[in-house]
Amino acid sequence: MNIHMLIIALLGSLSLLAAQPLWDNRLDFEEIEHRLKHERIVEIIDMHTFLKKSGKIPSGTHPIQLAILESGLKAVFKKPGACYGEIAAYNMAKALGMRIVPPTVMREIKGVRGSLQFYVESSIDLMRSHQDYRSKLDEKTISHEQLFNYLMCRWDIHAGNQILAKHKGKYYLALIDNAGVRSLIHTTKNKITTMYASTLEKLKVVDRPKLELVWHELLKVNRNRTEKLIDLILTRKEQIIEVILKTKIKKKRSA
Ligand SMILES: Nc1ncnc2c1ncn2[C@@H]1O[C@H](COP(=O)(O)OP(=O)(O)O)[C@@H](O)[C@H]1O
Ligand SMILES: [Mg+2]
Repeated sequence: MNIHMLIIALLGSLSLLAAQPLWDNRLDFEEIEHRLKHERIVEIIDMHTFLKKSGKIPSGTHPIQLAILESGLKAVFKKPGACYGEIAAYNMAKALGMRIVPPTVMREIKGVRGSLQFYVESSIDLMRSHQDYRSKLDEKTISHEQLFNYLMCRWDIHAGNQILAKHKGKYYLALIDNAGVRSLIHTTKNKITTMYASTLEKLKVVDRPKLELVWHELLKVNRNRTEKLIDLILTRKEQIIEVILKTKIKKKRSA
C-alpha cells in the first residue's frame, strides 16, 4: 500500500465516523443531490457487512454497496438494472412534492454507472422489531406512501424496504428499494418494451369521464369533491408521464 492509498484508507475510516445528516423535514434535497453527484468517494463497503457491523439484520439479495463520500456522507450504490427504478422513483416523488424517497442521483463509480442514494440512518430496525410503522406516522405521510406505491406500482413492500427514523419525538418514513418500479421503464437497449409502452398507454386512457365513473357513480363521492380529486389525479398523471419520459430520454443519452 503506497502513501496515497494509505491516506485514502485513513480518510475512509475517519469519514465513517462522521454524523450522517438527519432524515427529517429539514434535509435539503438539492444540496444532498449536489453532494452525491460531485463529492469524491473515499470508501466502498459491502452493504450487508456494514449492516451486520451496525447490529442490523440485513435484508435483500442484491450486492449493493455503501459509499462513503469525502465529507463522510454515506450513500447507497446500486448497479445497472436495479438503479433505473431508484432514479425514476426519486424523481417521481420529487415531482409530486413528496419527501418519502431519499435523494438519488446517477453516478459512475469505478467505471460502473448506477444509482447513488442518500443513506437514511436510523436506530430503528424494522427487520428486527416488526413494529407497525404506520401507527407512528402522520396521516399525510401514510397517504403519500400509499399513493406513491400505487402510482409507481411499487410492489416490493416489506420491513426491509422502508426505513423509519425518529428525531425529536417525530417519526419519518423513507421508501427505499424502488428497484422493482423499473418495470415502468424500458430495460433493454434503447427500445421501449411492451411493459413500458403499455404502462404509458394505460395512464393515457385515464380521463375525466372514467374518473367520474369511479369516484362519483361507483363510490358516491359528492360532485365537488369528485372534481377536486379528478383535477389532482389528472395533474399527477401528467407528471408521471413526464417523469417516465425524462427517465427514458436520460437513459437513452447515457446508453
Ligand atoms: N437509502 C438507504 N438508507 C438506509 N438503508 C438502506 C438504503 N438503501 C438500502 N439500505 C439497506 O440495505 C438493505 C438492502 O437494500 P435494498 O435496496 O432493499 O436491496 P435489495 O434489492 O437487495 O433488497 C435495506 O434493507 C436497508 O437495510
Ligand atoms: Mg430490498
